[in-house]
Amino acid sequence: MNTRIFKISPTTPKEKDITDAADILKSGGLVAFPTETVYGLGGDATDPDAAKKIYSAKGRPSDNPLIIHIATPEDAERYAYTTEIYYKLAKAFMPGPLTVILKKRNTVPETVTGGLDTVAVRCPAHPIAHELIARAGVAIAAPSANLSGSPSPTCGEHVISDMNGRIDAIIDGGECDIGLESTIVKPDGNSLILLRPGAITADALSCVCEKVVISEAVTEALKENERPLSPGMKYKHYAPSVPLTLLDGEDAKVLEFLKNSQKTEKCAILCYAEELSALLPERLIDIGKKDDLNTQASRLFAALRNTEALECDIIYAHLPKTQGIGLALYNRLIRAAAHTVKHIN
Ligand code: TXA
Ligand code: MG
Repeated sequence: MNTRIFKISPTTPKEKDITDAADILKSGGLVAFPTETVYGLGGDATDPDAAKKIYSAKGRPSDNPLIIHIATPEDAERYAYTTEIYYKLAKAFMPGPLTVILKKRNTVPETVTGGLDTVAVRCPAHPIAHELIARAGVAIAAPSANLSGSPSPTCGEHVISDMNGRIDAIIDGGECDIGLESTIVKPDGNSLILLRPGAITADALSCVCEKVVISEAVTEALKENERPLSPGMKYKHYAPSVPLTLLDGEDAKVLEFLKNSQKTEKCAILCYAEELSALLPERLIDIGKKDDLNTQASRLFAALRNTEALECDIIYAHLPKTQGIGLALYNRLIRAAAHTVKHIN
């Protein structure tokens, strides 16, 4: 398949390109597009065949449901049964990096929700995503635009590398601001269950809903035969082809460990900016300053992709603290590391 590539500036998007991309969606095709979190691989959310094409382009199991993307929070009415808490969340965080699980209406085919009676709804803040969805005139089902098993794409090149030749079009709108996927919540009576942490933190959510329960699957490995609340949690997520080990301990001791490791093994290191000068430059990836969690979030997936090109036997990264957006970093890294943590004393 010949994939059309539209290079679009988020600040001055060309009308014609967005209209062409929206036309592809309206006629049942697939278009990858930037959002403020990661790139999405979009298709008409009301078209059962579009969903099938998405699963096949990604190589993704079809019981892992898709998020539907809407242009305004009120558009959720067409696809789901909204609630008071939905509108409270919408007022506080939409458009933005939040996905809410709601009871679905019949307008959403079961191929999109993997047979569930609920649907995940998100109203992205990225100007290109917003324009594209608005012009398509329908909700857009979109998982992250990576091949199943790769880290989510945070820039146009990542999408082109995974999806060129597999879908109708790719909108390259540059780098995503946040770099980690949206926060997913499921309202449950008076509380909110946090299914996937993201840039909307548990603390921020608790300003809207007093009781926020962090699902165990966010930090812990699933037990055998356990059925997760969010089907995506049961899949092995991105894991680098060489083992990743997370290091936990005092900064100075971890740095000492890293220096020694560089002498004795072929290791790649996702290090803090402050550590660059103390380490040998080979196979070193700067993840950002220690306290700058937003930069670390925006660089993480590119850093993990970059390790694939490095010849090494092991990858080390710091075990993130779980405060704020740190919980999202922790969640992605602990899964990429298959829960391998080394404690340095
Ligand atoms: O930031 C994002 O959310 C990006 C951009 C493109 O919007 N999308 C994204 O989609 O990360 P994806 O498919 O990679 O992850 C969606 C997650 C999966 O873990 C899936 O299991 C969960 O959402 N999910 C979808 N529908 C659900 C539902 N009805 N109930 C529970 N979990 C659901
Ligand atoms: Mg994904």
